Amino acid sequence: MRLSREELKSLMKNKLIAAGLKEEHAETTAEILTWAHERGYASHGAVRVEYYAERISKGGITTEPNFTWKETGPCSGIFDGDNGVGYVVAEEGMKKGIEMARKNGIAVVGMANMSHSGSIGYYSELAAKEDLLAVTFCQSDPMAVPYGGTEPYYGTNPISFAAPTADDRTVVFDMATTVQAWGKILDKRSQGVSIPDTWAVDEKGMPVTDPYLVNALVPIAGAKGYGLMMMVDIFAGVLLGVPFGKHVSSMYHDLSKGRELGQMHIVIDPARFIGTEEFKKRMSMVLDELGEMPAAKGYGKVYYPGERAIMRRDKAYAEGGIEVVDELVDYLKSDAIHFNRYDHKNRFAD
Ligand code: NAI
Repeated sequence: MRLSREELKSLMKNKLIAAGLKEEHAETTAEILTWAHERGYASHGAVRVEYYAERISKGGITTEPNFTWKETGPCSGIFDGDNGVGYVVAEEGMKKGIEMARKNGIAVVGMANMSHSGSIGYYSELAAKEDLLAVTFCQSDPMAVPYGGTEPYYGTNPISFAAPTADDRTVVFDMATTVQAWGKILDKRSQGVSIPDTWAVDEKGMPVTDPYLVNALVPIAGAKGYGLMMMVDIFAGVLLGVPFGKHVSSMYHDLSKGRELGQMHIVIDPARFIGTEEFKKRMSMVLDELGEMPAAKGYGKVYYPGERAIMRRDKAYAEGGIEVVDELVDYLKSDAIHFNRYDHKNRFAD
């Protein structure tokens, strides 16, 4: 079913309020979920609402969090989220980062004790919209083997970067450090088809094609992706004093407890380097040059990171709205808060 932006956002917001979130936190969360869903990241859109509603109802997301912000130097600080909703904590952390980078040129903001914050490109994009550059690192629950290992140790630990241009384009590179998300494995299970042997491993750490034998996901690009997911956990976990590696809480283990996750934003003011206008001018040149390059056979065009997400968003609205599966719309419109489906499950919510 296709929904307008306003319809989808208000349905999600109302459900989060019904579950116990306060209005302003539900507003921010629904906005970022809509941002992801309209860009084609349906895995980080409406489908997440019931899980959050269950966690909020059971007390695992603090609905009246006591946020604290401590500047630890002219360019650094820690935002403690008191296990409040992750979307608000990550956004507040980025606002602090933007302010600090404007004042002192660079900001390194750690967010500790937060819950899941969804599609993290949103936060880096916030900085780029303010003519700054940003990087965001984020912990997630362990479901990937280290390169050559047999047990899940790291999460899908995403990284996002963003940079402004002199026009309305914004580069937003935003990716998980695993080859595939768990949702893709579930998808193949439901279709009764096998998975490529590059996506996941079994209990012995060997590649699997049967989606039911998956014990863990694998990092992108072998040892290089493993190194990246490890560094994400070092910057967003070990450095901030929150649980790290396999000690990171599982999304589905105990929904009455706070997740204690960590995230980090690094924000840079180009005025301290080449100058803001010159930087943005050169960025536009970069994107023009890439976009004008002849594409290889089978590729329509060379895209810049984030371009296809904007194309998906614009196409959805041109075709009558954002596509949301009917059952999800039924749930969002219903009086039900949640169906008790996510608590005390294994790391894959099985
Ligand atoms: P993806 O694989 O769809 O895209 C990764 C990046 O590659 C994007 O920046 C995209 O713009 C770029 N890209 C893709 N195709 C391209 C092309 N043809 N040309 C140029 N650039 C291209 O993203 P992925 O890894 O599946 O992540 C999806 C979302 O899930 C992200 O928003 C991420 O933040 C989120 N996520 C959140 C987690 C959390 O715990 N909060 C955990 C894991 C992922």
